[in-house]
Parts: sequence; C-alpha cells; structure tokens
Amino acid sequence: MMKEGIDTLILEDFEKGLDPRHPEMSKIPAPIIGYGEISTIFEIKSASMTGFAFKRMPIFQTIEEMNQYEHLYREYNRLISNDIGIHVPESETVRIVPDKGNMVVYIVQKKLPPQSICNRVISVIDDTSIIRLVNLILREMKKVWVFNSSGGEKTIGFDGQISNWAIKGYEGPEPPRIDEKTELYYIDTSTPLMSHNGVEGLNPDLFLRSAPSFLVWLIKWLFLEDVMTRYYDFHLVAVDLIANFYKEQRPDIIPSLIEAVNDFFEGETSQLHVPPINEKEVRSYYREDALIWNLYLNLRRFDRFIHTRILRKPYTYILPGTIKR
Ligand SMILES: Nc1ncnc2c1ncn2[C@@H]1O[C@H](COP(=O)(O)OP(=O)(O)OP(=O)(O)O)[C@@H](O)[C@H]1O
Ligand SMILES: [Mg+2]
Repeated sequence: MMKEGIDTLILEDFEKGLDPRHPEMSKIPAPIIGYGEISTIFEIKSASMTGFAFKRMPIFQTIEEMNQYEHLYREYNRLISNDIGIHVPESETVRIVPDKGNMVVYIVQKKLPPQSICNRVISVIDDTSIIRLVNLILREMKKVWVFNSSGGEKTIGFDGQISNWAIKGYEGPEPPRIDEKTELYYIDTSTPLMSHNGVEGLNPDLFLRSAPSFLVWLIKWLFLEDVMTRYYDFHLVAVDLIANFYKEQRPDIIPSLIEAVNDFFEGETSQLHVPPINEKEVRSYYREDALIWNLYLNLRRFDRFIHTRILRKPYTYILPGTIKR
C-alpha cells in the first residue's frame, strides 16, 4: 500500500467534473495512459495527483459491495507480493460515493514509465531478448502455480498477458537489457480472482455491471464460467500470453515462443504437469478472443448511444478507444 496517501477531496471534485466520453476534456483533465479490455487507465492533471495512475471502477451499488471488493483487493495484493513474491507497484484504493448513480472505487497506483510496460518493450528489443523476457514472465507465473498447488486454502487467478508486466526500474530511452537480473512488476491487480476452499471470492456481477444490460444473460450463459476459471489454469494463461504476439503484430515470433513455453513446462515446472501448448490452439484462441472483445466493445458503444442519445440519460463508463489488432 502507498505511503503518502491520495487527496480524496480532489478525487471527489474530479469525479463530479468527469466527462466519461472525453476524460481528457473533463473539468480536471484526465489524459488516458492505457486501455485494457474492460477498463481505462488515466492520469489526473492536478499537482497533488502527479505521478499516479488511476483506474476508475464505477460498479458498486452498496457499501457492502465496496467493502468486500476492497478487502479482496488488499488480500490479493498482499498474497501476490508477500507470500508469492511478485513485485506489484505501490497502490491504494479510494472510494467515492456520489449523490446519485453507482459508487466508485478508484485504484491508484504509482505511475510507471510508459516505455517500461512490456507490450512497448517487445517492440524495441531483439528476438533473443523477447524470448528471455517471456521466460522471466513464466518464472514469475510459476510462483503463482506453485502456490496454488501447495495445498493451502486459497488459490489465486492470474492474468499474465504481456501488457500486464513492466520492467522494474527501467526509464529508457535506450532499449532495456533483459537478463537474469531483470526484475518485473505485475500491474493488473484490479481483478482479484481468488478462491477460498474452492469458492470464488470475487463477485462476477460487479464486472457484469459495466456490460450492456441486454447482454448480461448472454454473457452469463456463454462466457462467464469460462472467464472465471481460465485464469486459474497455467496452460490457458500461457496460451493467452503467447497469443498477445498476434495483437502486438509479431506473429512471426510465435513458433519460437511456443517452443520456449513448452521447454519451460517440461523442465522448470515438470512437477506441475502442465500440458504443452501448440500453434493451432494459440491461433484459434486469438481469433476467438479478438472477435469477442471487439463485438463486446461495439455493443457497449451501442449501449452508450442508446443511453445518451435516445434515452438522454447519463452513461458513466469510460470506454476504450479502438484497439489495434
Ligand atoms: N501504474 C501504471 N503505470 C503506467 N501505466 C499503467 C499503469 N497501470 C496501467 N497502465 C497502462 O494501462 C494498461 C492497462 O492497465 P491494466 O492492465 O491494469 O488494466 P486492464 O488491462 O484494463 O484490466 P482489465 O483488462 O482487467 O480491465 C497497461 O497495459 C499499461 O499500459
Ligand atoms: Mg491488463
């Protein structure tokens, strides 16, 4: 957790003046620094907010839901960093209860240099270094699955995609050296999937709130089970990591990466018995994933259109811009 603490009053002010459609044009401007599949990460242009990255989660309908989520978030971050030994940037959560509409939790992290985020890093390092980087990521993830298989009451879900990692201490501008001494940060800790004696602690309804209401039943029926369980599966998380290289326009390096992953599974994690991955599976996973997330984003935009233009109601979610694939 963070030492200094964030000025809640300024954040409340920010929330009041926020323009979710154009965050950079809000009363206190908020330039976007990153998109995920679901959320948007931004800075807040105010002196006391400098140096932090903000993720806004306007998905809570009761105080109890906020309590539960924040508790789980802390527990997840503590487990990952203290018990498992993965570096995460310092962070804290701040809650805002507006006069009307959903309650908001802001996740505030130390802002890392944009060039240190690994999807940027792989575009400036050579192929040998990319393979080394993927090995370093696998080694971090190994700790998660060793923890999960250690027979404790808790197991954790983990999203190892390339854009969720950063090179610790790297500030550029020359390409970073990737070697045995390179240390990584894991930054995407806002989806704290964690199960206790086999019971999932994260309430999936929270994340369905940001989906168009006409889709919720379909998502529950088609995808929910799959999404909630795949992050517990080392094999599937590795498929996802490697499929990212299609998205990052590097399909040519995928065969070497698959070899590296399978060598790793056979060697360093043989005790975990993770089945090897293959190219066909990576390709079809990528196709399906890209299709689903594009469709989902377009339906959310449609939902925003219905809310703002037809029903003339506010629409609180910040939607990502077009994602290049
Ligand atoms: N602390 C940070 N410093 C700098 N950039 C960040 C930071 N946190 C996030 N980002 C940028 O925003 C991107 C998305 O962040 P993150 O992975 O945390 O969320 P997400 O993928 O949207 O999560 P989800 O998919 O669960 O909604 C990152 O890949 C990175 O580029
Ligand atoms: Mg992410």
